[in-house]
Formats: sequence, C-alpha cells, structure tokens
Amino acid sequence: MSEEIRTSIHGQWSSRTAFILAATGSAVGLGNIWKFPYITGENGGGAFVVIYLLCIVTIGLPIMVAEVMLGRRGRQSPVNTMAALAAEEGRPAIWFLLGWLGVIAGFLILSYYSVIAGWALSYVFRTASGVFEGATADGVSSIFTEFVSNPESLLAWHTIFMVATTIIVSRGVKHGIEKAVSYLMPALFVLLIILLFYSMSTGYFLDGLNFLFAPDFNKLTANSILVAMGHAFFTLSLGMGAIMVYGSYLPKETSIAKASMMIAVADTLVALLAGMVIFPIVFANSLEPGAGPGLIFQTLPIAFGQMEAGVLIGTLFFLLLVFAAWSSAISLIEPAVAWLVENKGVTRVTASVWCGMTTWVVGIGSVLSFNLWSDKTWSLSLFGETLFENKTFFSTLDGLTANIMLPMGGLFIAIFAGWLMKVESSKKELNTTEKGYNLWLFLIRVVAPIAVMVVFLNVTGVIK
Ligand code: PHE
Repeated sequence: MSEEIRTSIHGQWSSRTAFILAATGSAVGLGNIWKFPYITGENGGGAFVVIYLLCIVTIGLPIMVAEVMLGRRGRQSPVNTMAALAAEEGRPAIWFLLGWLGVIAGFLILSYYSVIAGWALSYVFRTASGVFEGATADGVSSIFTEFVSNPESLLAWHTIFMVATTIIVSRGVKHGIEKAVSYLMPALFVLLIILLFYSMSTGYFLDGLNFLFAPDFNKLTANSILVAMGHAFFTLSLGMGAIMVYGSYLPKETSIAKASMMIAVADTLVALLAGMVIFPIVFANSLEPGAGPGLIFQTLPIAFGQMEAGVLIGTLFFLLLVFAAWSSAISLIEPAVAWLVENKGVTRVTASVWCGMTTWVVGIGSVLSFNLWSDKTWSLSLFGETLFENKTFFSTLDGLTANIMLPMGGLFIAIFAGWLMKVESSKKELNTTEKGYNLWLFLIRVVAPIAVMVVFLNVTGVIK
C-alpha cells in the first residue's frame, strides 16, 4: 500500500484528543458500571479484581496498542484492513476472517448490550418519577423484578435504544461523538464521586473496599479467571475491531502508546469507582454481592432514595449511563457499517439501518431471557470442567462473546502484530522509543498470547 492513500474514506478524527475521547467513549460504558460490579460480586471480589487488573496491564494494553496500530496502518474496516495488511506483509489472505470474527462478536454483544442500556434508559424516568424516595432495599428489588418480568416493556426500551444508536451511526461516527463525550464523560465521573461520598456515609465503606481489594485467592476458579480476562477485553473494547476501526480514523502523527495508556487508565478508574460505590451499599443493606445482572439496579436506587437531591442526582446518573452505553454501542457496529459501505456500495444510512435491524432482532432473545425464557437454560462440561452452567440466551451470548470471541480475536491480533508483521513496519507505525517498542514487542509476542492460551486451556481442563 502506498503512503499517499493512508487516510480512511470514512474520514479522520480532528485531533489526537478527538481519538482519545471517542475511544474512551467506546471503552467506558455498561462494562464499567453495570458489568464490572456484578461479575466482581459473583466471583468473590478482591482476587478477581487483581486478575482483572493484571490482565488489563499485561494483555489489554499491548493488544490495544496493536489494534490501534493495525487500524491506522490499514485505514479501512477491520475486514479489509486485515486483508490489506496480510497482503502487504506477504501473509495468507485468510487473515480477513479475523475482521469477520470481530464483526460477528460486535453484533452479538450489541444485541444484549442494547437490552441492558434499555433498562438504564427506563430507570432515567423511573428515578425522575420519585418512586425510589425513601424506598427500602426490598422495595427497590421488587421494582426491578417486576420491571424485568415484563417482556413488552423491555422490548420497547431496547427498541428505543437501538433506534437512537442507528441514527447516530448513520450520521457517521465523527459527527457529534467527540463533543458529546468530552462533556458527558467528565460529568459521569463527577457523579460517581458524589455517589462515592454517599457510600462513605453508609458506615460500610470499609467492608466494600475490603471486598473489592483484599484478595482471597482461594475463591478463584478457572472459570473466574476466564471471566476476569474476558472482561479486560470487553471493558477496553478489544478483540473485535472497534478500536481498530477507530484507529483507522487516527491522524498519522499521534503517539499510539500514550493514547492507549490514557484510555486504559480512564476506563479502569471508572470501573473501580463504580465498585467502590456499589459494594458499601450492598453490605449496608444486607444484599447479595452475587445478585447478578440486576445488581446496580437493585443498589443505586436505594442511595438515590436516601440522599439529598437524590431524584436529581439519580436521574442524571442514569442519563449519563445511557450516554456512556450509547458511545460504546456506536463502536460495536461501526466495523460492520464501515465494511458494508466499503464493499457493498451502500450509503452509511442503509448500512446502519440493516445492521441496527439485525441486532434488534437478535436482542429479542435477551429480552426474553429475563422473563418468558428465564428457565430455558443449558450447561456444558468439557474434560470434567464446567464451561457453561445454567446459561440463558442472554448469558450464553455474553459468555460466548466476552470470554471466548474477544480473547480469541485478541490472541490473533497479538500473533499478527507481533509475529507476522515485519518489525520495521510496526516500529515505523508506533514510532516510539527503543525501550518502549521492545517492551511492547515482548508483551505482544510472548506475554499476551501465552496468557490467553493458558487461561483457555486452564478452563477447558487441558492444563490445571
Ligand atoms: N467497552 C464497552 C463497555 O465497557 C463495551 C464494548 C465492548 C464496546 C467491545 C465495544 C467493543 O461497556
């Protein structure tokens, strides 16, 4: 590929900050505020958090650098980027399949992500109506249970969220996201800090911190290590081309390593803050840390019901959460939309509508997982290890994408960027110090791929 054509037909970010904001918008979302606390609760706390943090640093960060680098070098949708780079590096054309793995993962994730974002959206109105004022933990829980048991209303909120996402994507990712994210992310952060003060006042703050940060490694199972690793990919939006496609709109001069570090730090901070807010509320109200996907909806409203100006703060909080989910959702279908525009000659609008409708239909399965289909579950064991246990449609999709497809995508990205791409190509593209480059090369060649493979083999019982 010649140097001249290296800007994307879909446009380019206006600056490095714009890229960092958009990528942070993709990374920070339901994964940080909804998923991180509930899976931490389900997997016993501290030790799980330690593994998650280790995965962020040793696997997530180097793979993020690799993914942005591949995107910027390829300048197209992940499918075509991988095809172009494979050709450029003299590797088999089959690497385009890595792009497809990502497109499919993005669809599947968005299908259930939108359902949960719909919950948050409905909680904007529910909180604003004042129903949580003075509500007990039991009252808050039963409001949630009643809400999710109604498929029509979940479907309606899922539909609204998907329509909104489709509209934004059809206008092109670069219009609006940069600006929106630059106000909304800091605002979300401020609200989390306010909530942190509430949690400090519950008298159970230390219990919360203890649960979150004091590791008890006996509580770790092969499966919880897999979930922690999968979540590192999920929360940083890695392994499916979202960050690759955002990288393809990145101006040439930007330092990829620095930008990636900033994104990872912001993302991790938001998740840890969310954990520090939620768990004191859990313990103060004798709730169950392992309550599952409803955890934040069963805890935060208690806080909003008790605190000064709780209606306002709570309404704002859920609104900002919806925006955070939105800026992530956009990046989940951008790889598919970019591919349709490049290869099928359709307009962005047509591409977005097709993608949005397909995702919406698959999402219906997740809507039903919380009510009509909640008892339709299945389990799977391999070599005596339980791989899937009592999974609904929703939790199957979540487990399949976050814990298998994303790490698999990440593994192949690491192999391609570390071993198959010429050192001179990646060195030129990353354009960082000798030391920094060598550290990255070691992580991407050795540490990240081995870690992912060991976790995979461990959970399938092949190695113990
Ligand atoms: N990172 C997003 C979140 O934490 C989810 C996401 C995953 C977005 C994969 C894009 C790609 O909510």
